Amino acid sequence: MSISLDGKVAVITGAASGIGRASVERFVEAGAKVLAADIDEAGGRLLEAAFPGQVVFQTCDVMSEDDIAVTMEVASQTFGGLDILFNNAGAGGSPTSLEEMTGELWDYSQNLLLRSVALGMRYAIPHMKARGGGAIVNTASVAALSAGMGPIAYSAAKAGVLHLSKCAAAELSKYSIRVNAICPGFILTNIFTPGDMPSQIKSAVQLTMRSGAHMAQPIQRPGEADDIAQAALYLAGPASGFVTGTHLVVDGGMLVGPRSSWDPEEQARRLKEREKLWAGAAELSRSDA
Ligand SMILES: NC(=O)c1ccc[n+]([C@@H]2O[C@H](COP(=O)([O-])OP(=O)(O)OC[C@H]3O[C@@H](n4cnc5c(N)ncnc54)[C@H](O)[C@@H]3O)[C@@H](O)[C@H]2O)c1
Repeated sequence: MSISLDGKVAVITGAASGIGRASVERFVEAGAKVLAADIDEAGGRLLEAAFPGQVVFQTCDVMSEDDIAVTMEVASQTFGGLDILFNNAGAGGSPTSLEEMTGELWDYSQNLLLRSVALGMRYAIPHMKARGGGAIVNTASVAALSAGMGPIAYSAAKAGVLHLSKCAAAELSKYSIRVNAICPGFILTNIFTPGDMPSQIKSAVQLTMRSGAHMAQPIQRPGEADDIAQAALYLAGPASGFVTGTHLVVDGGMLVGPRSSWDPEEQARRLKEREKLWAGAAELSRSDA
């Protein structure tokens, strides 16, 4: 089924890389005009040049309330309105454990990953109301649903994004604004190799990740940014017109159950362990007799 965003205007945050960039490409292909927002000016300008007339880049730090408000205004002014917001910008935030957490580090992660989403919606509302409705998609994570998938402050913020999306869907339904979230699994993007990482290490990490990514979940291929972009396109477009206040898990099955439920190698390893245990128990009962 092909999804049309013809005549629609979208803001996508974190647009210069990974999931954001793939979403810009999908949205443009579907006919939308996109205001691509990011702190990465060089990446944003490249994107703008790749889609002249369809994509305009806007420097926006989602930690800044002013930048967010201006971004929504610029989208409206540039393209004549705002119909879709993909609140997607993010990074790992503080990697600190709870035991070593400080208020400052906690606030940093929450501001980057949760407050940004709340304020993105807040400043999109008037523009969407003026259009008679809209669709908001927020990027959460599998880390919102299970422990051990990311740093603790990141995971808590992403869980916040899920509930925020649900509450916002309830509040904004009166304006015909739908709100949904996406929970990506392990997706090969630059999020694991931040800008300040030395380039040699970056390349090595990317190589290792790409070679092992197909083994991370039941669907045995790497998760790609476009897998999430297609989910975003669905939630932003008319095919999901009766869908609001929920989330779509796009994780290749990572959350279906423990590794032993789907990985034959893990099942064989466990069987061997069990056989060893039984053999040990049999030996013990023989020596007791
Ligand atoms: N890649 C994964 O495995 C994965 C899994 C679950 C969730 N996510 C989420 O997906 C979203 C996109 O990440 P990605 O994987 O595409 O990573 P990425 O690093 O490729 O892209 C993130 C983009 O966000 C931008 N950005 C970072 N901080 C910003 C800020 N303060 N203001 C504006 N832009 C900012 C970066 O410049 C970059 O262009 C994030 O919210 C991330 O938490 C990713």
